[in-house]
Amino acid sequence: ARKRMTVPGFTARKGGAPLICLTSYTAHVAKICDEVCDLLLVGDSLGMVIHGMPNTLGVTLEHMIMHGQAVMRGADKALVVVDMPFGSFEESPEIAFRNAARVIKETGAHAIKLEGGTEMAPTIRHLTRRGIPVMAHIGLMPQAMNTAGGFKAVRSPEQFDAVAADGQAVAEAGAFSVVVEGVAPALAKRLTEELPIPTIGIGASADCDGQILVFEDMVGLLPRVPTFVKRYGTMEEMMRAAVAQYAEEVAERRFPAEEHTYKVKD
Ligand code: KIV
Ligand code: NA
Repeated sequence: ARKRMTVPGFTARKGGAPLICLTSYTAHVAKICDEVCDLLLVGDSLGMVIHGMPNTLGVTLEHMIMHGQAVMRGADKALVVVDMPFGSFEESPEIAFRNAARVIKETGAHAIKLEGGTEMAPTIRHLTRRGIPVMAHIGLMPQAMNTAGGFKAVRSPEQFDAVAADGQAVAEAGAFSVVVEGVAPALAKRLTEELPIPTIGIGASADCDGQILVFEDMVGLLPRVPTFVKRYGTMEEMMRAAVAQYAEEVAERRFPAEEHTYKVKD
């Protein structure tokens, strides 16, 4: 049986076999993903994917803790990382520690992830020195959508040096890995070559040390997905067909059939 992935074990895969990562928000999905994944991320994308929010800004620490608990009940092999939601870590390293410690204590997850580059390096250092492993997240940062004016990929060469500096800063601060989101392949490759920690790409490049996608995007459950998503399944069509058939059979009293009913005991 596979042993549980550890934070040092994950970092040690730098430059090795690609690290396989997916998001999970619920116990059963976590159980399915756990069979193949090195890391499961309880992403704050759950605000949009599960709760129907327009973006991730309204997600709370309570949401993250509740879904983190569910995922921990479903996974026993993968490293489980929980996203710090907008507003829970930016103010100071001390507040970040207090909230990250709540996540770790109340979910049993192994690490947290937070968005930010050079500006978050002191916080990353504060947390990792005090026992909380941090996965960083640079490039396109969805929590910065209002300052960026939307979800903007990093595609202009004049932006590359700033993102490369973010990568250096988070690695030097002690991040055990870094998500690289929405950047041109050349920049993803450069980050992967320059940084001593695994780069996990999303909308980045196959040159990264690993990849991550949102589970619901990947299985085809969401109607609209970004360009960088490959749909490996057709869950939305399957669910539509199932609910349509159910509705039809109930309307025609064909469901429940005899095999779905309890026999009288004698
Ligand atoms: O919230 C999320 O799902 C994420 C990943 C897509 C990296 O941050
Ligand atoms: Na996120």
